[in-house]
Amino acid sequence: MQKFGIRIVIVGLTLSAAVFLAACNVEGFFTKLQDDPVWVDPNAAAAETAGAADAGGPGKGIYGRICAACHLGSGKGVPGNNIPPLAGSALASGDANKPIGIVLHGFRGPIERNGVKINGQMAAWKDQLSDQEIADVLTYVRGAFGNSGSAVTPDEVKTLREATASRTLPYAEAELP
Ligand code: HEC
Repeated sequence: MQKFGIRIVIVGLTLSAAVFLAACNVEGFFTKLQDDPVWVDPNAAAAETAGAADAGGPGKGIYGRICAACHLGSGKGVPGNNIPPLAGSALASGDANKPIGIVLHGFRGPIERNGVKINGQMAAWKDQLSDQEIADVLTYVRGAFGNSGSAVTPDEVKTLREATASRTLPYAEAELP
């Protein structure tokens, strides 16, 4: 009789534990714990759904190799360290000639972005990157990070490269094409 009683208690405890665990799972407790290790890059996801012509493509690789060193994979930059964000940048997403000019010839401060004073200098990439590569990387930037600029064509880069061939200094904001 006593053994039987202990069994009932054990079965009872097991059932309560099962119900408790199931309840936790319903709340998403265990689901969350299980999901945690699967890290989904929000920027990759944003890039996937961004409106511009090219959310990934060859430009993404160039961005990762070159631009992300400063502007970060998230495009958020390091404003406190004089590196402006490309995410939400009007310059990056607006009239294509401006970011093309920046990548061709470089860019220097002082500028102010989102209330932060930035006074850095970005080097020229005209000797390292082809018209196609600049078009690709800017098409990526203009479609990633929540930006919604149009795609950039190699012809646009070629035209500005030729028109500004004699330039040797990085642009200040007021001088941008
Ligand atoms: C070594 C660091 C560095 C790298 C690499 C770099 N940048 Fe920059 N970039 C800067 C800095 C610093 C500025 C701001 C300079 C200033 O005006 O003070 C800037 C500014 C810009 C801006 C203007 C943003 C705005 O809103 O003012 C654009 C667009 C831009 N970079 C695009 C790129 C792209 C595309 C690449 C890759 C091809 C790239 N940058 C690589 C440092 C870098």
